[in-house]
Amino acid sequence: MQFDLIITNATLPDGRTGMDIACNQGRIAAVEEAITAEAREVIDAQGQLVSPPFIDPHFHMDATLSLGNPRMNVSGTLLEGIALWGELKPQQSIDDIIARALRYCDLAVSQGIGAIRSHVDVCDDELKGVQALLEVRRQVADYLDLQLVAFPQDGVLRDPTARDNLIRALDMGVDVVGGIPHFERTMQAGADSVRLLCELAAERGLMVDMHCDESDDPLSRHIETLTCEAQRLGLQGRVTGSHLTSMHSMDNYYVSKLIPLMVEAGVHAVPNPLINIMLQGRHDSYPKRRGQTRVRELRDAGITVGFGSDCVMDPWYSLGTADMLDVAHMALHVGQLSSRQDMRWCFDAVTVNSATIMGLEGYGLEKGCRADMVLLQARDPIEAIRLRPARLAVIRGGQVIARGSRETTMLDIPGRPDRVDPADYAPQEI
Ligand code: FE2
Repeated sequence: MQFDLIITNATLPDGRTGMDIACNQGRIAAVEEAITAEAREVIDAQGQLVSPPFIDPHFHMDATLSLGNPRMNVSGTLLEGIALWGELKPQQSIDDIIARALRYCDLAVSQGIGAIRSHVDVCDDELKGVQALLEVRRQVADYLDLQLVAFPQDGVLRDPTARDNLIRALDMGVDVVGGIPHFERTMQAGADSVRLLCELAAERGLMVDMHCDESDDPLSRHIETLTCEAQRLGLQGRVTGSHLTSMHSMDNYYVSKLIPLMVEAGVHAVPNPLINIMLQGRHDSYPKRRGQTRVRELRDAGITVGFGSDCVMDPWYSLGTADMLDVAHMALHVGQLSSRQDMRWCFDAVTVNSATIMGLEGYGLEKGCRADMVLLQARDPIEAIRLRPARLAVIRGGQVIARGSRETTMLDIPGRPDRVDPADYAPQEI
């Protein structure tokens, strides 16, 4: 039999080496040590890492690549970012959003991202972002899974038309119910918004993903209500709390009660390390809080944690390259996840964990999974995070859709080597 594609001599994220992966009709047909069969294309991985694609479980594709338009965020705070986005929204057309989003998708695919969960702001009576991203979702479907969250940026209760707009967005085909309880006018309104939105999701059989407690206020406890509603409405495994930065500042005793309740309710967590290390602690003098949620404690309790990128060149964050390894790199540092085991887990948090959170079908490198993967110029997940290396091949449905390479640097210093490659600097065995 002839396969569509065979990758030979791959190292897998779980540490297996010398593996061959055969792909047929869009699926993985075999993962074995020596596959002797014909294939239309054979890629020799040369012992480098083959991973299932990177997954970004939290992004804002309606705002991406809008940096500087109409102005920059001077204070660097979340709240100025929201105000700035409010200035940009009426100025942009559906075509503007589509063009920027498609351009971002090109970048994302080139970096080996296979799926993105994007929030889309529904606080716009014309629902321009929703119309645009539904069209983008259709256009990119062959090469990127785009899952959309109806996100009431200005508060589903605080904004007078947000609730109706959110329901219209869901009727139009947006996949997931979003929210932002810490931006509602009062703690009570925040709790009411969580209840209302979870009931809406339960009625429609949808998942929930809320911006939840993206605040340094230790008393911002909407995650408690979100957890309670997930439990009450039978939404276990289908609810995600994004950001959860207030947990960084919460009282330890309270957290010792909260985390087990989250476990019981099957709530997932999505920290966004690049953005929150930039935005949080802006009102602190010194010491400044890091503002990343309690990643280690959530993970150790058994909660599924996936890292999101959140923003690339928009009102909240002026950098970014769509590289989920940048995201893992930052999370690792801020969370002090420095053991070998912890670093390997950070790779899981930008791949398999986020696929679980998004409910992706057929994700992984087992026989029968979708033949989606990325070949990295690194020998293992830890080296991948350290180097953030070239994506030598990005594969979707058994077809190569992107090929990358990393240029090396040549030295011209007497007595020193000609060529410097960061990949040569790691010890071979640890
Ligand atoms: Fe966000």
